[in-house]
Amino acid sequence: MRSDANIAGPMADPVPGPRTEPGDTSAGGVAPRGDAARETPPPMDDTPIGRAAQQAVEAMNRAGEGLPRPAQTRIMVVANQKGGVGKTTTTVNLAASLALHGGRVLVVDLDPQGNASTALGVDHHAEVPSIYDVLVESKPLSEVVQPVPDVEGLFCAPATIDLAGAEIELVSLVARESRLQRAIEAYEQPLDYILIDCPPSLGLLTVNALVAGAEVLIPIQCEYYALEGLGQLLRNVELVRGHLNPRLHVSTIILTMYDGRTRLASQVAEEVRGHFGKEVLRTNIPRSVRISEAPSYGQTVLTYDPGSSGSLSYLEAAREIALRDPHVEQAQQAQQQLQAQQVQQTQQVQAQEVRPGQQVPVQQGQTPQTQAPQAPAQQPQAEAQAQQYGSMAEGTQ
Ligand SMILES: Nc1ncnc2c1ncn2[C@@H]1O[C@H](COP(=O)(O)OP(=O)(O)O)[C@@H](O)[C@H]1O
Ligand SMILES: [Mg+2]
Repeated sequence: MRSDANIAGPMADPVPGPRTEPGDTSAGGVAPRGDAARETPPPMDDTPIGRAAQQAVEAMNRAGEGLPRPAQTRIMVVANQKGGVGKTTTTVNLAASLALHGGRVLVVDLDPQGNASTALGVDHHAEVPSIYDVLVESKPLSEVVQPVPDVEGLFCAPATIDLAGAEIELVSLVARESRLQRAIEAYEQPLDYILIDCPPSLGLLTVNALVAGAEVLIPIQCEYYALEGLGQLLRNVELVRGHLNPRLHVSTIILTMYDGRTRLASQVAEEVRGHFGKEVLRTNIPRSVRISEAPSYGQTVLTYDPGSSGSLSYLEAAREIALRDPHVEQAQQAQQQLQAQQVQQTQQVQAQEVRPGQQVPVQQGQTPQTQAPQAPAQQPQAEAQAQQYGSMAEGTQ
Protein backbone atom coordinates (compact mmCIF):
# COMPACT_ATOMS: atom_id res chain seq x y z
CA MET A 1 0.00 0.00 0.00
CA ARG A 2 1.45 3.35 -0.98
CA SER A 3 0.37 6.90 -0.36
CA ASP A 4 1.75 8.91 -3.27
CA ALA A 5 -1.63 9.89 -4.52
CA ASN A 6 -2.57 11.36 -7.83
CA ILE A 7 -4.12 14.57 -6.61
CA ALA A 8 -6.40 17.10 -8.25
CA GLY A 9 -5.45 20.69 -8.93
CA PRO A 10 -6.11 23.82 -6.89
CA MET A 11 -9.60 24.99 -6.25
CA ALA A 12 -10.89 28.41 -7.24
CA ASP A 13 -13.89 30.74 -7.37
CA PRO A 14 -16.15 30.32 -4.36
CA VAL A 15 -19.87 29.80 -4.90
CA PRO A 16 -22.75 30.82 -2.63
CA GLY A 17 -23.04 28.91 0.63
CA PRO A 18 -25.39 26.08 1.61
CA ARG A 19 -29.01 26.33 0.69
CA THR A 20 -31.81 24.79 2.63
CA GLU A 21 -33.85 21.96 1.23
CA PRO A 22 -37.14 20.19 1.84
CA GLY A 23 -36.76 18.15 4.97
CA ASP A 24 -33.52 19.82 5.95
CA THR A 25 -34.01 20.47 9.61
CA SER A 26 -30.68 22.10 10.22
CA ALA A 27 -31.77 25.62 9.52
CA GLY A 28 -35.51 25.31 9.36
CA GLY A 29 -35.86 26.94 5.93
CA VAL A 30 -37.40 25.54 2.78
CA ALA A 31 -36.25 26.55 -0.68
CA PRO A 32 -38.09 25.82 -3.94
CA ARG A 33 -36.42 23.11 -5.98
CA GLY A 34 -36.67 21.61 -9.41
CA ASP A 35 -36.79 17.90 -10.21
CA ALA A 36 -33.44 17.75 -11.99
CA ALA A 37 -31.54 16.51 -8.97
CA ARG A 38 -33.91 13.57 -8.60
CA GLU A 39 -32.76 12.03 -11.85
CA THR A 40 -29.66 9.90 -11.95
CA PRO A 41 -27.02 12.15 -13.45
CA PRO A 42 -24.44 11.04 -16.00
CA PRO A 43 -20.75 10.96 -14.96
CA MET A 44 -19.41 14.11 -13.36
CA ASP A 45 -17.08 15.23 -16.12
CA ASP A 46 -19.07 18.00 -17.73
CA THR A 47 -22.60 17.80 -16.45
CA PRO A 48 -24.46 20.45 -14.47
CA ILE A 49 -24.37 18.20 -11.40
CA GLY A 50 -20.68 17.45 -11.87
CA ARG A 51 -19.96 21.15 -12.15
CA ALA A 52 -22.13 21.91 -9.14
CA ALA A 53 -20.26 19.29 -7.08
CA GLN A 54 -16.98 20.79 -8.17
CA GLN A 55 -18.20 24.28 -7.27
CA ALA A 56 -19.29 23.04 -3.85
CA VAL A 57 -15.79 21.67 -3.28
CA GLU A 58 -14.24 24.89 -4.48
CA ALA A 59 -16.37 26.83 -2.02
CA MET A 60 -15.20 24.54 0.75
CA ASN A 61 -11.59 24.87 -0.26
CA ARG A 62 -11.84 28.63 0.01
CA ALA A 63 -10.68 29.59 -3.44
CA GLY A 64 -7.50 27.72 -4.11
CA GLU A 65 -6.37 27.14 -0.55
CA GLY A 66 -6.30 23.37 -1.12
CA LEU A 67 -6.24 20.69 1.52
CA PRO A 68 -3.28 18.98 3.13
CA ARG A 69 -2.58 15.52 1.88
CA PRO A 70 -1.79 12.85 4.47
CA ALA A 71 1.83 11.80 4.69
CA GLN A 72 0.72 8.19 4.96
CA THR A 73 -2.51 6.45 4.05
CA ARG A 74 -4.99 7.17 6.84
CA ILE A 75 -7.08 4.12 7.64
CA MET A 76 -10.31 5.06 9.41
CA VAL A 77 -12.66 2.50 10.91
CA VAL A 78 -16.24 3.75 10.97
CA ALA A 79 -17.75 1.86 13.89
CA ASN A 80 -20.64 1.92 16.31
CA GLN A 81 -22.35 -1.32 17.20
CA LYS A 82 -25.73 0.40 17.11
CA GLY A 83 -27.53 0.12 13.78
CA GLY A 84 -29.01 3.12 12.03
CA VAL A 85 -26.72 5.78 13.53
CA GLY A 86 -25.29 6.83 10.17
CA LYS A 87 -22.15 4.68 9.80
CA THR A 88 -22.72 3.81 6.16
CA THR A 89 -24.05 7.24 5.24
CA THR A 90 -21.04 8.86 6.87
CA THR A 91 -18.57 6.43 5.28
CA VAL A 92 -19.75 6.94 1.72
CA ASN A 93 -20.33 10.69 1.92
CA LEU A 94 -17.07 11.43 3.70
CA ALA A 95 -15.23 9.20 1.24
CA ALA A 96 -16.80 11.02 -1.71
CA SER A 97 -16.02 14.38 -0.11
CA LEU A 98 -12.38 13.48 0.45
CA ALA A 99 -12.15 12.30 -3.15
CA LEU A 100 -13.78 15.50 -4.43
CA HIS A 101 -11.30 17.46 -2.33
CA GLY A 102 -8.65 15.74 -4.45
CA GLY A 103 -7.71 12.64 -2.46
CA ARG A 104 -7.63 9.00 -3.55
CA VAL A 105 -9.99 7.09 -1.33
CA LEU A 106 -10.98 3.45 -0.88
CA VAL A 107 -14.18 2.39 0.87
CA VAL A 108 -14.07 -1.13 2.30
CA ASP A 109 -17.61 -2.40 2.77
CA LEU A 110 -17.49 -4.75 5.73
CA ASP A 111 -21.23 -4.98 6.34
CA PRO A 112 -22.95 -8.06 4.83
CA GLN A 113 -25.90 -5.82 3.99
CA GLY A 114 -23.68 -4.13 1.40
CA ASN A 115 -25.31 -0.73 1.89
CA ALA A 116 -22.09 1.18 1.23
CA SER A 117 -21.64 -0.69 -2.07
CA THR A 118 -25.23 0.16 -3.03
CA ALA A 119 -24.83 3.82 -2.12
CA LEU A 120 -21.67 4.06 -4.20
CA GLY A 121 -23.40 2.48 -7.20
CA VAL A 122 -20.96 -0.44 -7.23
CA ASP A 123 -22.02 -3.86 -8.47
CA HIS A 124 -22.30 -6.33 -5.58
CA HIS A 125 -24.58 -9.18 -6.60
CA ALA A 126 -23.68 -12.67 -5.42
CA GLU A 127 -21.09 -13.54 -8.11
CA VAL A 128 -19.07 -10.33 -7.88
CA PRO A 129 -15.60 -10.74 -6.33
CA SER A 130 -15.95 -9.13 -2.93
CA ILE A 131 -14.39 -8.47 0.45
CA TYR A 132 -15.59 -11.97 1.48
CA ASP A 133 -13.11 -13.47 -1.00
CA VAL A 134 -10.37 -11.29 0.45
CA LEU A 135 -11.08 -12.25 4.06
CA VAL A 136 -11.97 -15.91 3.69
CA GLU A 137 -10.35 -16.98 0.40
CA SER A 138 -7.22 -14.78 0.69
CA LYS A 139 -7.88 -13.13 -2.69
CA PRO A 140 -5.79 -9.98 -3.23
CA LEU A 141 -7.70 -6.77 -2.49
CA SER A 142 -6.75 -5.42 -5.92
CA GLU A 143 -8.88 -8.16 -7.54
CA VAL A 144 -12.10 -6.99 -5.87
CA VAL A 145 -11.69 -3.19 -5.81
CA GLN A 146 -13.94 -1.33 -8.28
CA PRO A 147 -13.86 2.34 -9.27
CA VAL A 148 -16.92 4.27 -8.13
CA PRO A 149 -18.87 5.70 -11.07
CA ASP A 150 -19.19 9.49 -11.06
CA VAL A 151 -16.47 10.29 -8.51
CA GLU A 152 -12.88 10.34 -9.67
CA GLY A 153 -10.38 8.97 -7.17
CA LEU A 154 -13.00 6.99 -5.26
CA PHE A 155 -12.90 3.18 -5.10
CA CYS A 156 -14.88 0.48 -3.31
CA ALA A 157 -14.21 -3.08 -2.15
CA PRO A 158 -17.82 -4.29 -2.21
CA ALA A 159 -19.64 -6.63 0.16
CA THR A 160 -21.93 -9.35 -1.14
CA ILE A 161 -24.37 -11.53 0.75
CA ASP A 162 -21.55 -14.11 1.18
CA LEU A 163 -20.13 -11.91 3.90
CA ALA A 164 -23.01 -12.92 6.18
CA GLY A 165 -21.27 -16.27 6.70
CA ALA A 166 -17.83 -14.80 7.24
CA GLU A 167 -18.18 -14.19 11.00
CA ILE A 168 -18.50 -17.97 11.47
CA GLU A 169 -16.06 -19.02 8.74
CA LEU A 170 -13.33 -16.73 10.03
CA VAL A 171 -13.33 -18.43 13.45
CA SER A 172 -11.41 -21.46 12.21
CA LEU A 173 -8.97 -19.60 9.96
CA VAL A 174 -5.34 -18.75 10.68
CA ALA A 175 -4.76 -15.12 11.78
CA ARG A 176 -8.49 -14.61 11.82
CA GLU A 177 -8.29 -11.12 13.34
CA SER A 178 -5.67 -9.72 10.99
CA ARG A 179 -6.76 -10.91 7.57
CA LEU A 180 -7.99 -7.50 6.44
CA GLN A 181 -4.84 -5.83 7.75
CA ARG A 182 -2.68 -8.21 5.67
CA ALA A 183 -4.77 -7.62 2.57
CA ILE A 184 -4.49 -3.84 2.94
CA GLU A 185 -0.75 -4.02 3.53
CA ALA A 186 -0.34 -6.00 0.32
CA TYR A 187 -2.42 -3.50 -1.68
CA GLU A 188 -0.13 -1.68 -4.07
CA GLN A 189 -2.26 1.21 -5.29
CA PRO A 190 -1.55 4.67 -3.87
CA LEU A 191 -4.25 5.88 -1.49
CA ASP A 192 -4.75 8.83 0.83
CA TYR A 193 -7.63 7.38 2.83
CA ILE A 194 -9.22 4.01 3.47
CA LEU A 195 -12.63 4.15 5.15
CA ILE A 196 -13.98 0.88 6.52
CA ASP A 197 -17.74 0.62 7.00
CA CYS A 198 -18.38 -1.80 9.88
CA PRO A 199 -21.47 -3.91 10.56
CA PRO A 200 -23.59 -3.08 13.62
CA SER A 201 -21.86 -5.63 15.86
CA LEU A 202 -18.54 -6.14 17.56
CA GLY A 203 -17.76 -9.55 16.02
CA LEU A 204 -14.76 -10.72 14.01
CA LEU A 205 -15.54 -8.46 11.04
CA THR A 206 -15.35 -5.34 13.21
CA VAL A 207 -12.26 -6.74 14.98
CA ASN A 208 -10.61 -7.19 11.55
CA ALA A 209 -11.35 -3.53 10.82
CA LEU A 210 -9.96 -2.40 14.20
CA VAL A 211 -6.77 -4.39 13.63
CA ALA A 212 -6.34 -2.97 10.12
CA GLY A 213 -6.97 0.68 10.99
CA ALA A 214 -5.26 3.34 13.06
CA GLU A 215 -8.18 5.70 13.62
CA VAL A 216 -11.68 4.95 14.84
CA LEU A 217 -14.40 7.28 13.60
CA ILE A 218 -17.62 7.00 15.60
CA PRO A 219 -20.84 8.46 14.18
CA ILE A 220 -23.27 9.35 16.96
CA GLN A 221 -26.89 9.99 16.19
CA CYS A 222 -28.30 13.01 18.00
CA GLU A 223 -31.08 11.21 19.85
CA TYR A 224 -31.93 10.04 23.33
CA TYR A 225 -29.58 7.24 24.54
CA ALA A 226 -26.95 8.45 22.04
CA LEU A 227 -24.05 7.39 24.27
CA GLU A 228 -25.60 4.12 25.38
CA GLY A 229 -23.56 1.12 24.30
CA LEU A 230 -20.54 3.22 23.38
CA GLY A 231 -18.72 1.95 26.50
CA GLN A 232 -18.61 -1.53 24.98
CA LEU A 233 -17.17 -0.21 21.72
CA LEU A 234 -14.55 1.83 23.59
CA ARG A 235 -13.58 -1.22 25.70
CA ASN A 236 -13.14 -3.24 22.50
CA VAL A 237 -10.97 -0.50 21.05
CA GLU A 238 -8.84 -0.67 24.22
CA LEU A 239 -8.61 -4.46 24.00
CA VAL A 240 -7.53 -4.40 20.37
CA ARG A 241 -5.05 -1.63 21.12
CA GLY A 242 -3.61 -3.60 24.04
CA HIS A 243 -3.25 -6.93 22.25
CA LEU A 244 -3.29 -6.53 18.50
CA ASN A 245 -2.86 -2.95 17.27
CA PRO A 246 -1.03 -0.38 19.42
CA ARG A 247 -1.68 2.41 16.85
CA LEU A 248 -5.43 2.25 17.28
CA HIS A 249 -7.20 5.27 18.81
CA VAL A 250 -10.53 7.04 18.61
CA SER A 251 -9.63 10.05 16.48
CA THR A 252 -12.98 11.39 15.35
CA ILE A 253 -16.57 11.64 16.58
CA ILE A 254 -19.17 12.95 14.17
CA LEU A 255 -22.69 13.97 15.17
CA THR A 256 -25.24 12.82 12.63
CA MET A 257 -28.92 13.51 11.96
CA TYR A 258 -28.62 16.75 13.89
CA ASP A 259 -31.92 18.60 14.11
CA GLY A 260 -31.10 22.16 15.06
CA ARG A 261 -34.73 22.92 15.95
CA THR A 262 -34.88 20.53 18.86
CA ARG A 263 -33.44 21.03 22.31
CA LEU A 264 -32.71 17.32 22.48
CA ALA A 265 -30.19 17.54 19.62
CA SER A 266 -28.27 20.38 21.22
CA GLN A 267 -28.35 18.63 24.61
CA VAL A 268 -26.97 15.43 23.08
CA ALA A 269 -24.32 17.41 21.21
CA GLU A 270 -23.31 19.13 24.44
CA GLU A 271 -23.15 15.84 26.30
CA VAL A 272 -21.04 14.20 23.58
CA ARG A 273 -18.68 17.19 23.45
CA GLY A 274 -18.41 17.14 27.24
CA HIS A 275 -17.55 13.47 27.13
CA PHE A 276 -15.14 13.34 24.18
CA GLY A 277 -13.90 16.92 23.80
CA LYS A 278 -11.59 17.66 20.91
CA GLU A 279 -12.31 14.43 19.02
CA VAL A 280 -15.79 15.71 18.15
CA LEU A 281 -15.90 17.45 14.77
CA ARG A 282 -17.23 21.03 14.85
CA THR A 283 -19.39 20.23 11.82
CA ASN A 284 -22.64 18.43 12.64
CA ILE A 285 -24.41 16.53 9.89
CA PRO A 286 -28.01 17.76 9.64
CA ARG A 287 -30.97 15.47 9.29
CA SER A 288 -31.66 15.83 5.59
CA VAL A 289 -34.06 14.20 3.17
CA ARG A 290 -31.46 14.56 0.39
CA ILE A 291 -28.95 12.48 2.36
CA SER A 292 -31.47 9.67 2.88
CA GLU A 293 -32.72 9.76 -0.74
CA ALA A 294 -29.30 9.55 -2.40
CA PRO A 295 -28.59 5.79 -1.84
CA SER A 296 -31.74 4.75 -3.70
CA TYR A 297 -30.20 6.36 -6.79
CA GLY A 298 -26.89 4.55 -6.19
CA GLN A 299 -25.30 7.86 -5.30
CA THR A 300 -23.79 9.85 -2.49
CA VAL A 301 -25.41 13.16 -1.62
CA LEU A 302 -22.34 14.84 -3.11
CA THR A 303 -23.40 13.89 -6.62
CA TYR A 304 -27.13 13.56 -5.98
CA ASP A 305 -27.55 17.12 -4.72
CA PRO A 306 -24.15 18.83 -4.48
CA GLY A 307 -25.42 22.17 -3.19
CA SER A 308 -27.65 20.74 -0.46
CA SER A 309 -26.85 21.36 3.18
CA GLY A 310 -26.14 17.64 3.66
CA SER A 311 -23.58 17.66 0.87
CA LEU A 312 -21.88 20.82 2.09
CA SER A 313 -21.75 19.62 5.67
CA TYR A 314 -20.04 16.36 4.65
CA LEU A 315 -17.57 18.38 2.55
CA GLU A 316 -16.85 20.56 5.56
CA ALA A 317 -16.50 17.53 7.86
CA ALA A 318 -14.04 16.01 5.37
CA ARG A 319 -12.09 19.23 5.36
CA GLU A 320 -11.88 19.16 9.15
CA ILE A 321 -10.67 15.57 9.05
CA ALA A 322 -8.02 16.38 6.45
CA LEU A 323 -6.76 19.27 8.57
CA ARG A 324 -6.70 17.15 11.72
CA ASP A 325 -4.15 14.69 10.37
CA PRO A 326 -1.67 14.23 13.23
CA HIS A 327 1.20 14.45 10.72
CA VAL A 328 -0.14 17.69 9.30
CA GLU A 329 -0.58 19.13 12.78
CA GLN A 330 3.01 18.19 13.63
CA ALA A 331 4.21 19.77 10.42
CA GLN A 332 2.24 22.95 11.11
CA GLN A 333 3.75 23.18 14.60
CA ALA A 334 7.20 22.57 13.16
CA GLN A 335 6.62 25.32 10.61
CA GLN A 336 5.51 27.76 13.32
CA GLN A 337 8.60 26.95 15.40
CA LEU A 338 10.77 27.42 12.36
CA GLN A 339 9.23 30.80 11.58
CA ALA A 340 9.75 31.91 15.20
CA GLN A 341 13.41 30.79 14.98
CA GLN A 342 13.89 32.64 11.70
CA VAL A 343 12.41 35.84 13.13
CA GLN A 344 14.75 35.54 16.12
CA GLN A 345 17.78 34.96 13.87
CA THR A 346 16.86 37.87 11.62
CA GLN A 347 16.53 40.16 14.63
CA GLN A 348 19.95 39.08 15.89
CA VAL A 349 21.56 39.63 12.50
CA GLN A 350 19.91 43.06 12.16
CA ALA A 351 21.11 44.05 15.62
CA GLN A 352 24.67 43.19 14.58
CA GLU A 353 24.40 44.98 11.25
CA VAL A 354 23.22 48.19 12.90
CA ARG A 355 26.25 48.33 15.19
CA PRO A 356 29.03 46.43 13.43
CA GLY A 357 31.97 45.63 15.71
CA GLN A 358 29.99 46.53 18.79
CA GLN A 359 29.45 44.08 21.56
CA VAL A 360 26.39 41.88 21.03
CA PRO A 361 24.02 42.07 24.02
CA VAL A 362 24.91 39.20 26.30
CA GLN A 363 22.28 36.63 27.12
CA GLN A 364 22.39 34.93 30.46
CA GLY A 365 25.04 32.21 30.64
CA GLN A 366 26.87 33.36 27.45
CA THR A 367 30.40 34.75 27.17
CA PRO A 368 30.45 38.31 25.82
CA GLN A 369 31.95 38.45 22.32
CA THR A 370 32.24 40.64 19.27
CA GLN A 371 30.79 38.98 16.19
CA ALA A 372 30.42 39.54 12.48
CA PRO A 373 26.90 38.99 11.20
CA GLN A 374 26.21 35.26 10.98
CA ALA A 375 25.01 33.41 7.91
CA PRO A 376 21.52 31.99 8.40
CA ALA A 377 21.58 28.54 9.96
CA GLN A 378 21.27 25.46 7.75
CA GLN A 379 17.70 24.52 6.82
CA PRO A 380 16.55 22.84 9.99
CA GLN A 381 14.96 19.42 9.92
CA ALA A 382 11.65 20.96 10.94
CA GLU A 383 11.44 22.93 7.71
CA ALA A 384 12.24 19.92 5.60
CA GLN A 385 9.51 18.01 7.44
CA ALA A 386 7.02 20.82 7.02
CA GLN A 387 7.71 20.98 3.29
CA GLN A 388 6.86 17.31 2.86
CA TYR A 389 3.24 18.12 3.40
CA GLY A 390 2.27 20.07 0.35
CA SER A 391 -1.36 20.75 -0.17
CA MET A 392 -3.49 18.30 -2.05
CA ALA A 393 -3.73 20.96 -4.67
CA GLU A 394 -0.02 20.71 -5.41
CA GLY A 395 -0.25 17.19 -6.79
CA THR A 396 -0.75 16.20 -10.38
CA GLN A 397 -3.94 17.28 -12.02
N1 LIG B 1 -28.12 12.97 8.06
C1 LIG B 1 -29.13 12.18 7.75
N2 LIG B 1 -30.34 12.69 7.46
C2 LIG B 1 -31.39 11.88 7.15
N3 LIG B 1 -31.32 10.55 7.11
C3 LIG B 1 -30.14 9.98 7.40
C4 LIG B 1 -28.99 10.75 7.74
N4 LIG B 1 -27.97 9.90 7.98
C5 LIG B 1 -28.45 8.66 7.81
N5 LIG B 1 -29.75 8.70 7.46
C6 LIG B 1 -30.63 7.56 7.21
O1 LIG B 1 -30.70 6.78 8.39
C7 LIG B 1 -30.73 5.41 8.08
C8 LIG B 1 -29.57 4.70 8.78
O2 LIG B 1 -28.35 5.23 8.28
P1 LIG B 1 -27.11 4.27 7.98
O3 LIG B 1 -26.02 5.14 7.49
O4 LIG B 1 -27.52 3.13 7.13
O5 LIG B 1 -26.78 3.76 9.45
P2 LIG B 1 -25.85 2.52 9.91
O6 LIG B 1 -24.90 2.25 8.82
O7 LIG B 1 -25.21 3.00 11.17
O8 LIG B 1 -26.79 1.38 10.16
C9 LIG B 1 -30.65 5.30 6.56
O9 LIG B 1 -31.94 5.14 6.07
C10 LIG B 1 -30.08 6.64 6.14
O10 LIG B 1 -30.52 7.03 4.85
MG1 LIG C 1 -24.52 0.43 7.77
